[in-house]
Amino acid sequence: MKITFKTLNAVFAFILLAALTVSCSKKSEMDKFIDSLLSQMSVEEQIGQLNLHSMGFRSSAALTDDNETVKAVKTGNMGALYGFGGDPATMRKLQEYALQSPHGIPLMFGMDVIHGYQTIFPVPLAISNTWNREMVEKSARIAATEASSSGINWVFSPMVDICHDARWGRIVEGAGEDPYLGGEMAKAMVWGYQGHDDVFSDNEVLACVKHYALYGAAEAGRDYNTVNLGRQEILNNWMRPYKDAAEAGAASYMSSFNEYEGIPATANKYLLTDLLRDEFGFDGFVVSDATAVAELVNHGIGDLQEASARALQAGLDMDMNSDGFIGTLKKSLDEGRVTKADIEKACRRILEAKYKLGLFDDPFKYIDEEKVKTNIFTPENRAFARELARESQVLLKNDGVLPLSKNARIALVGPFANNASDMSGAWAMSAKASDNVTILQGVKEALGTSGKLTTAQGSKITAQPIRGGFGVGFTRNEGAGRGPAAPEKTNAQLIAEAVAAARAADVVVACVGEPNSMSGEGSSRADISIPDVQVELLKALKATGKPIVMVLTTGRPLTLTWEDENMNAILNTWSLGTESGHAIADVLFGDANPSGKLTTSFPRMVGQLPLYYNHKNTGRPHPDFEPYRKFTSCYMDVINAPLYPFGYGLSYTTFEYSPVTLSASSMPVNGKVTASVTVKNTGKYDGKEAVQLYIHDVYSTSTRPVKELRGFEKVDIKAGESKTVTFEICSDDLAYYNHDLKWVCESGDYEIMIGPNSKDTGEPVILTVQ
Ligand code: NOJ
Repeated sequence: MKITFKTLNAVFAFILLAALTVSCSKKSEMDKFIDSLLSQMSVEEQIGQLNLHSMGFRSSAALTDDNETVKAVKTGNMGALYGFGGDPATMRKLQEYALQSPHGIPLMFGMDVIHGYQTIFPVPLAISNTWNREMVEKSARIAATEASSSGINWVFSPMVDICHDARWGRIVEGAGEDPYLGGEMAKAMVWGYQGHDDVFSDNEVLACVKHYALYGAAEAGRDYNTVNLGRQEILNNWMRPYKDAAEAGAASYMSSFNEYEGIPATANKYLLTDLLRDEFGFDGFVVSDATAVAELVNHGIGDLQEASARALQAGLDMDMNSDGFIGTLKKSLDEGRVTKADIEKACRRILEAKYKLGLFDDPFKYIDEEKVKTNIFTPENRAFARELARESQVLLKNDGVLPLSKNARIALVGPFANNASDMSGAWAMSAKASDNVTILQGVKEALGTSGKLTTAQGSKITAQPIRGGFGVGFTRNEGAGRGPAAPEKTNAQLIAEAVAAARAADVVVACVGEPNSMSGEGSSRADISIPDVQVELLKALKATGKPIVMVLTTGRPLTLTWEDENMNAILNTWSLGTESGHAIADVLFGDANPSGKLTTSFPRMVGQLPLYYNHKNTGRPHPDFEPYRKFTSCYMDVINAPLYPFGYGLSYTTFEYSPVTLSASSMPVNGKVTASVTVKNTGKYDGKEAVQLYIHDVYSTSTRPVKELRGFEKVDIKAGESKTVTFEICSDDLAYYNHDLKWVCESGDYEIMIGPNSKDTGEPVILTVQ
């Protein structure tokens, strides 16, 4: 048969219709099933489905009849449990108890699987530095496979909160400051966890997008703090990742701790219903953050009963750890404070999630005694973790000292050199410190019998032990002795040992930074420099005159002004997870060429915060690198430019960008053009480059940022080779929410820029929208 365009169209139309019919009939089957189930359930049982508790135990021995969780599960007073996976016997038992409840509704099992399950990947902020959608998706895919093999069917990830303020410890959990890039990473993560369709196979799990909404805008970077931003601002610069995740099909959201417009997010109808459901099209369920319903009382919007009723009516479906819904909704129903329909709506959404997971067909689908042994922490997963960890590192400075020769005499010093537990990063609940490859181990293996390696701890991490927090960021501290030794020696003694090692070496590799516990939840800092005791070490090393490569472990951008002036190279490794040591050695010795680029600006000093590249121009703009001038928008004591800008990162090779060409210099409002650039690898190493497209609306009815990222591509370019990268630009890429909160593409001139980072975007070309 001759295949014409017309026949192809007919075939596509048929397939589309068939797919739609299958999906509609599946939906109607689900609706019928849930309608019938809901009609049989008592209101108490429906409220029971809205209840989520932390499991609080890891072994079936704790599952005694007087255990409160057991009682709640058996009586149908629990919709889901969260905490830990990996013990099929415990999970099987709990599921059997759930099946004994009046209508035998199975439980969901949730967990904070944030950057891998047991194969720990780099922290989310680090993986966003890859600018590599495919790798990010694959990391979530592997996390889903490991988590689902351990009994988990719902992961509390991705965290997509935009953040402009590195004081906030939770900046480590997200993808940085840019809404477009954040949206791309959010979609990749959702697809990685859930797949690309609405069928959940047994290695796909529900994603939970958090923290909805605007948690990363907490005032002054102080955790849980108030958010004060206008609606136009949030729609343009903060909400996009949440919206993109909904469009990618995310099955659940978690409400955030902060308030917005005077109403805590957990009870905020504008956020939970008007935006999330009505505007973004989300149709799954929303769970509160842990104890967030009870915390509404502290926010001051009512007692637990009032707070619970308001949260339900605003669009919250499940209450995590507050016992607000389970404890008060029935009373509120009796008093006419909430309706049966409110409760039924929330319950339906939770039953739908269970239905989609396939739990009504097979409540034990995710509980498998074999898979838990074979699918977790496999050599393949570790190999990918190493690849991802290579690509997440950002080379911030290099005067030519890197890559190191394997024949050099190397002094590997600092409190992170032989430190396994702090390689995991914050929020790595199933990590085992003993699984992590230390930097020392990685470097030793890379050297084999070549070169000469000496090592010393060199310093404590902080002068005083860090109090409170989550210890080592949830990493199980197995493998004692694999973190820095208890500080029996004074810092001066530790420094003296490192200095002696440095004197006998050709080059020093100084491993410094923040431990896991200094970022993540409840770990805001007002001073974001490297702790003083470690800076003392760097200063003493500097005094030896030896070249120093600083290897930085951190969960947030730090102020590195002194380090930038005094170190020969700075390799920002964030926290790279299980394969840290191998991946760092790969980059140090040039077996991998660094290609990571920052997704957060690094300030010169903390007083510049909040800091982000896509700021407004103001009426009195001040050039980023110029010194102070009175009556312009600048500081007396520091220039406006960040130390390292958004999108920045060095390579061992160099790339040259051609001028940008447009396929047409104008387009109608609903048209399309392409923008192209040719990138040449002008150095000696093969490399990967994240090519970035920025736009700027020259005149518009509302003020627009000086630049906005609207596209990126990560390309492999061999030494000496050139590649042309082409971006399609349509009206949606130029549009924004105007003053009336309408999504519009206004006619007029737009500057189109393509470059290696947000600062070096070259000569803009003008695209006119008619
Ligand atoms: C609090 C955190 O804010 C959230 O990210 C996490 O998912 C829950 N606790 C559950 O651990």
